[in-house]
Amino acid sequence: MQYAQITGWGKCVPPAVLSNADLMTFMDTSDEWISSRTGIQERRVCHCNFSDMAIVAAQRALAAANLAASEIDLILLGSLTMDSLCPNTASIVQNAIGAHNAASIDINSACTGFLYGLHIGTNLIKTGAHSKVLVIGGEFISHYMDWARRDVAVLFGDACGAVVIEASPEPTGLLACKIGCEMDTTSAIQITNLGSAYSRLDKDFVFNGWNFEGQEVFKRAIKAMAFACGEVLAQTGLHIDDVNIMVPHQANRRILDALAKRLGIPEHKVMVNVHKYGNTSAGTIPVALTEALEEERIKPGDYVLMATFGAGLTWGAGLVKWGERVTPLATSDADLPPCEQTGLEILAPHIARYKARQEE
Ligand code: ACO
Repeated sequence: MQYAQITGWGKCVPPAVLSNADLMTFMDTSDEWISSRTGIQERRVCHCNFSDMAIVAAQRALAAANLAASEIDLILLGSLTMDSLCPNTASIVQNAIGAHNAASIDINSACTGFLYGLHIGTNLIKTGAHSKVLVIGGEFISHYMDWARRDVAVLFGDACGAVVIEASPEPTGLLACKIGCEMDTTSAIQITNLGSAYSRLDKDFVFNGWNFEGQEVFKRAIKAMAFACGEVLAQTGLHIDDVNIMVPHQANRRILDALAKRLGIPEHKVMVNVHKYGNTSAGTIPVALTEALEEERIKPGDYVLMATFGAGLTWGAGLVKWGERVTPLATSDADLPPCEQTGLEILAPHIARYKARQEE
């Protein structure tokens, strides 16, 4: 039997910070509201292209696995904020890292893009179709933000993470996965003016808007993730007490707490970094996984439970058994181009544009 062991991991978090206090300079909000409702204190703003973050995260993951890019035979890139739809962005990443033996596929399932990719990549390795797969998840969500919407703009941030999975006879990697989609709630999270359903003749086409039913998403997210976690535990015959660490989608601290309570997993076993980055959509799990390893919170042979949800509403959970190695084999000096600006300075022209439109 073939498995798909996680052998490399890496993250790319852009340097420009946007704090709650920064948001208060142009929006009617408060640090108290944001912190108490979401747990978020600050988030990052990308100063380059989305693919630049994906390339850096990929190079760091490859170094951790000590693989040359030419050894990768498939790249799966989860995101809804791609550089480009044609060509796809996975091929831009492929070209930049020199993965000339790979096929490249973009996956858009919103926040669940990384787990969806891990699921697909793992199963393609299990069938023998591929042997070394790069799975990337991330988002440049500030690019599509409606800076006039305080109920949405405070929640998100930019970041990217990646893992390398390799064929292995050891029963490790994603042992079980349950993914799904609640098709009756497609409008609960919706970015408008992004896609061919929106008329380019509309004068507002250049402005993205958000339909966002926060409370509905909140309730459904907890229910769907708890269900999916139950399914993967049942598939593996494991009990929640066997889980060493949960690395969930970081959308809101209250969602994490409610999910942990419902599953009966203690707080100290839940990886949380939402306070630093906000919701980075498809980036949350690979970034949190990388940080859990950097903080030595994952030990050889640990069971890692992942749970996620996003627009669609897509949802899922995965149960990973970690291998023997919890440290990178090598490090990469790949990095983003330098950034002299603060998050607020990067966003200033976009905020001004949305403000002017609001005042029209
Ligand atoms: N600052 C101050 N007040 C605010 C803000 C803000 N930034 N945003 C909203 N408010 C106000 C509202 O206007 C409302 O005021 P009112 O009572 O006078 O009308 C009040 O705060 C309460 O708003 P609620 O929506 O009831 O707040 P709630 O406690 O539900 O929290 C939140 C809102 C944080 C959005 C929550 O519902 C949530 O986290 N939902 C999950 C959403 C999510 O994480 N989605 C992720 C998926 S995204 C993807 O896949 C791309």
